[in-house]
Amino acid sequence: MSTDQHGRPRAGAVGFSRRTAWDLACNPLAQAVARAGSDGRRLLDLTESNPTRCGLHYDEQAILRAFSNPGALAYAPEPRGMHSARAAVGAYYAEHGAHLDAGQLLLTTSTSEAYSFLFRLLCDPGESVVVPAPSYPLLEFLATLDDVDLESYELVYHDGWQIDFTSLAAACSSRTRAVMLVHPNNPTGSYVKPHEAEQLNEFCAARRLALIVDEVFLDYALSPPPGTGRDVFTFARNREVLTFTLSGLSKIAALPQMKAAWMAVSGPPAQQLAALERLEVIADTFLSMSTPVQLALPHLLEQRRTIVPQLTERVQKNLAELDRRLAAQQAVERLAIEGGWYAVLRIPATGADDDFAVALVEGAGVMVHPGHFYDFRREGYVVVSLITSQDVFAEGIALTVAAAAAM
Ligand SMILES: Cc1ncc(COP(=O)(O)O)c(C=O)c1O
Repeated sequence: MSTDQHGRPRAGAVGFSRRTAWDLACNPLAQAVARAGSDGRRLLDLTESNPTRCGLHYDEQAILRAFSNPGALAYAPEPRGMHSARAAVGAYYAEHGAHLDAGQLLLTTSTSEAYSFLFRLLCDPGESVVVPAPSYPLLEFLATLDDVDLESYELVYHDGWQIDFTSLAAACSSRTRAVMLVHPNNPTGSYVKPHEAEQLNEFCAARRLALIVDEVFLDYALSPPPGTGRDVFTFARNREVLTFTLSGLSKIAALPQMKAAWMAVSGPPAQQLAALERLEVIADTFLSMSTPVQLALPHLLEQRRTIVPQLTERVQKNLAELDRRLAAQQAVERLAIEGGWYAVLRIPATGADDDFAVALVEGAGVMVHPGHFYDFRREGYVVVSLITSQDVFAEGIALTVAAAAAM
């Protein structure tokens, strides 16, 4: 470390920013996993979220062919991203009933980068964005790096997940600039319902807040979400308030290694235009998209047509196996899921979820995520990935349920 306990640089050492003063010590779960690895013990990983490690069938020839475009030999940077790539993203949204001009789309290397651009666009240091809890854990790091404060509002569970609008109102202050949604949410697998979207629009319009909507799992619906009577809707169609809809190849086409994502900007035309002009300057400052990936993007995005069905089938089969296992006992229950790649399990809250997860690694050689990893506010929840290969999932879930029942 180069700073003393007061954060002041030690003599002779370079000082680092407070925003990077993370506690980098390995947590007990990571230590248990590392010990299992160094002892050569087999671990059944029920947290596997990397689709390239899940035994999917990718059209390898088509993917590699996508990178043989001679256009990759020239550099002609376009801050919002190449028109051909944005047109392909526009066609994706048109299939979802959102008719966007390519000018409303901006490419980024990841949704993480898109979040960072938006934090810089919307917030001065110390201003805030409100995020759902439970939700995706990376947001906290992204916000810290951009000097943005995160406040949480709650998703509550009664037979299904809903937005708690009272907690949303309580989380907002005069410093708040945007409300974030994950649609469907990771890990709860819950979509924002049309009546909630309407209420959110009223809420944001009254407080002059933007909406930031992460739709990376949009296409992984298990069935039409309750109350919609139709396919899932995308917020890229939202016109009521300034809305930034984020997605990318990492989940939609299960190609996280390609580092290609985007945001769609919709809402009142004057605000949309002003936001896009500023975003273009931010993007121009970095010019982070690679030319070969942009040229390949239309072809890579097409991969979703075979990938989404494969992953949806995997999720359904693992879910069926999970339900078969759970039917024979009472200790563990799974919460309702509408889509996405994860299942939330309610386990007896006799101790800390972290301790359960560590004991599971040590005693049964199975890895799950404790609920607090996703900002669950109470003990008694673990999260498992449903895209795990089926044999690993079946064996791992049997051991997990047995361990929870023995608590
Ligand atoms: C909700 C959510 N958004 C975004 C991402 C990451 O997307 P990207 O690889 O495009 O940064 C993840 C990854 O798990 C996620 O769960």
